[in-house]
Amino acid sequence: RTTFRWLWRATYLSLLTGVGFVIYDGYTDRNPEEQFAPDPTKKTLVVLGTGWGSVAFLKKLDTSNYNVIVISPRNYFLFTPLLPSCTTGNIEHRSIMEPVRQILRHKKAHAKFYEAEATRVDVEKKVIKITDNSDIKGKVHETEVPYDMLVVGVGAENATFGIPGVREHSCFLKEIRDAQAIRTKIMDCVETAAFKDQAPEEVDRLLHMVVVGGGPTGVEFAGELRDFFDDDIQKLIPDIAPRFKVTLIEALPNVLPMFSKQLIDYTESTFKEEHINILTKTMVKKVTDRTVEAEITGPDGKKSSITIPYGLLVWATGNTLRPIVKDLMAQIPAQKDSRRGLAVNEYLVVQGSRDIWAVGDCAVAGYAPTAQVASQEGAFLARLFNNMAKTQDLEQKIHDLSTGLNLKPGDTAAETQEIAGLEKQLRRIKDIKPFHYSHQGSLAYIGSEKAVADVAWLNGNVASGGKLTYLFWRSAYLSMCFSTRNRVLVALDWIKAKLYGRDISRE
Ligand code: FAD
Ligand code: NAI
Repeated sequence: RTTFRWLWRATYLSLLTGVGFVIYDGYTDRNPEEQFAPDPTKKTLVVLGTGWGSVAFLKKLDTSNYNVIVISPRNYFLFTPLLPSCTTGNIEHRSIMEPVRQILRHKKAHAKFYEAEATRVDVEKKVIKITDNSDIKGKVHETEVPYDMLVVGVGAENATFGIPGVREHSCFLKEIRDAQAIRTKIMDCVETAAFKDQAPEEVDRLLHMVVVGGGPTGVEFAGELRDFFDDDIQKLIPDIAPRFKVTLIEALPNVLPMFSKQLIDYTESTFKEEHINILTKTMVKKVTDRTVEAEITGPDGKKSSITIPYGLLVWATGNTLRPIVKDLMAQIPAQKDSRRGLAVNEYLVVQGSRDIWAVGDCAVAGYAPTAQVASQEGAFLARLFNNMAKTQDLEQKIHDLSTGLNLKPGDTAAETQEIAGLEKQLRRIKDIKPFHYSHQGSLAYIGSEKAVADVAWLNGNVASGGKLTYLFWRSAYLSMCFSTRNRVLVALDWIKAKLYGRDISRE
């Protein structure tokens, strides 16, 4: 009884602390401290993008050292790991978005934000062409922004490998609008399949959801989709539910190639139980408005063709370069051999350039294109920029002292000592180690409240899969959300979906 009482007290206390923290965080969020105006004598630092790399950079950057300008067609940061959950309404999309102006408002010195797409970086003239691509345009919707220093964090585009029909007929899963389009299309397929007098073969086609690409995006989406049907559609529209089918197509011999063998096997067997059909060694060659044409390599190495009718097609075959990155690479001769993005050195400086740095999916530093890598690169670069500013400050101070500018009669010994102290500080600051990526592990949701995890643990690796891993996946992603507001919204969405089911209204 005493144990129970203590347990109850501990729970009550932690709940109270949690609520207190949320209220305090909300208050400080709404009432930030006054900001400095930018100092026009400082260098102009332009940051392209508001994704993982750029936002990690901005979060750690001391903005009082530069005139910071942020340019992105998206005025928010998007927490991509939970994007697959938005396609079915398990999480509402605004719960994983954080307005960039909110982020910038909390910086020491004011930073400008322009919602625009950077269309060209002119390396020679050090200017960036920007265009407002939003629906509402003012009289000026194209202009130029000069820079002294440039950080490129524009991410990557969806790869289609030039396969005919992909751009016209598939949905992608990279941005919020993609998740919204998928959510709408799933319900459109379902309602059309339930339409009066629909022929059985047409019902089968409409309820066939095909996912191309067995990387983590494809796998997580397939898992979420199956959950949606099992938890909600089946209950609400039982007459068509048995015809619902998910197929995952992968060109390689297995899905999730970055995970360990045991987790690949676990995922494949879980998918079998969930009735998700996996077609491996199957390369999609063509897409039409109703079918996917693919080439299957059989166990004997013989190739055969299949045509798969679909209602919804989601294309998740990885990344390719954005046009602005291609153009930038074409202007820098040292980039001519780079294929997958801007080749950077160990300090993330774009090779062959002097004042351009790159982070995240658009940079090639020898790591996988993941949020983990992008955010570590962004945080490293911010430390580098903070150090560069401190170095310049110290060098100026040393210069002023040693040229006697601040010298008062009888001060020489003290000045010499001060210079020695500053030089020591300067050596320490200048000694910045190159970027080193620390891999924390890989996590993926595979449906039916199961997840797989390859996590770094005590110089080794722990592989686990199942329901407990799913709880770990949820708590890990909840803690990684950008803000307390995001965390609260995501937790409430999960509770709401569990209690009332996902909202199946079609917008
Ligand atoms: P992004 O985050 O894509 O940001 C690019 C930014 O640049 C955006 O703000 C964009 O609007 C802006 N931009 C684009 N073009 C221009 C332009 N011309 N001018 C100016 N700005 C521009 N990784 C993990 O480690 N763990 C996960 O669980 C995980 N889950 C994922 C789930 C999904 C569905 C997806 C799609 C990816 C996932 N990733 C995950 C990968 C991760 O999201 C990316 O590696 C990460 O977003 C890369 O960060 P970035 O800053 O380079 O690019
Ligand atoms: P990916 O590059 O990881 O996987 C794409 C898959 O599509 C590949 O396995 C490829 O063989 C296959 N493919 C390519 N062309 C094909 C074709 N014509 N027909 C059939 N299959 C084809 O891409 P994904 O999943 O979009 O991930 C991109 C990046 O984001 C990766 O670095 C990934 O690690 C990261 N990510 C991480 C997540 C996590 O950690 N949970 C979740 C989502 C993405």
